[in-house]
Amino acid sequence: MSSEAKSVLAMLSILLLLFCAVVSVLSNPAISLYQCKTDDDVCATKAVNLAYPLILEANEEIGAESIDPLFQPEIEGNLSILKFKLFNTTVTGFKTCSAENAKYNDEQQTLRIDIVCGAFTLSGSYDINGQLIVLPVQGNGDYVLTTKKYRLIIDLELKTITGKDGKTYRTVKNFKMEADPLEPVNYDFRNLFNGQKDLADTVLKFANENWREVAHEVQLPVFVANIKKMVKNANKYLKTIPIEEYTQQ
Ligand SMILES: *[C@@H]1O[C@H](CO)[C@@H](O)[C@H](O)[C@H]1NC(C)=O
Ligand SMILES: *[C@@H]1O[C@H](CO)[C@@H](O)[C@H](O)[C@H]1NC(C)=O
Repeated sequence: MSSEAKSVLAMLSILLLLFCAVVSVLSNPAISLYQCKTDDDVCATKAVNLAYPLILEANEEIGAESIDPLFQPEIEGNLSILKFKLFNTTVTGFKTCSAENAKYNDEQQTLRIDIVCGAFTLSGSYDINGQLIVLPVQGNGDYVLTTKKYRLIIDLELKTITGKDGKTYRTVKNFKMEADPLEPVNYDFRNLFNGQKDLADTVLKFANENWREVAHEVQLPVFVANIKKMVKNANKYLKTIPIEEYTQQ
């Protein structure tokens, strides 16, 4: 091999090493969020979209559970005129979401994420009693709920804590959210009114025709239960990432 060829090879391997170092830093998503300046939405959106798939995955090492599919033994909705419980629900669809925009404020420790999701499916069993907007509804049985596009806006309040190791970490302290279906939602609740077909059909027809209003009425307890699990996973990751190791000095 000529000395010229050797030096080209040496150069290539250095480039490759550099490239790998850069990739491994970028692949730790919280690092990039900590490097985003307040109100640099492009930076924050990129960081959130890098972190998001990781947060959905089960990871035994840190005790994170799967978010897609997500299993929810019981979700309770205590609305003023409607009480419902969903049992043994399997939720799929969080893998179809991506952040359209994220707004990070490093000083105030807030992160607002605007997410669009492609489709969700929920299935399990239910127990419902009360008034669905204008119609009385009652029953229990199996259900399947399918959605198409959905928009979620999640406002996260962060907090800086000091770990047992003396290093500082961020965690999500609290969140608020809004959700809006952008396309029809399909409600299939079996055995409403103990199987009285006329009554059941009337409620299902109403729900499917007024999908947006019905979603706004009932969705929040369900989304909040799901996002809580997601935040739990996120916090488990954040506890492995000391801030000072990743912020630019
Ligand atoms: C819902 O209401 C029931 C009875 O009123 C109560 O026992 C339960 O704790 C409430 N659940 C939630 C999640 O607020
Ligand atoms: C939920 O699943 C568990 C385990 O399969 C079962 O024992 C329980 O009866 C189910 N709950 C309902 C309300 O169907």
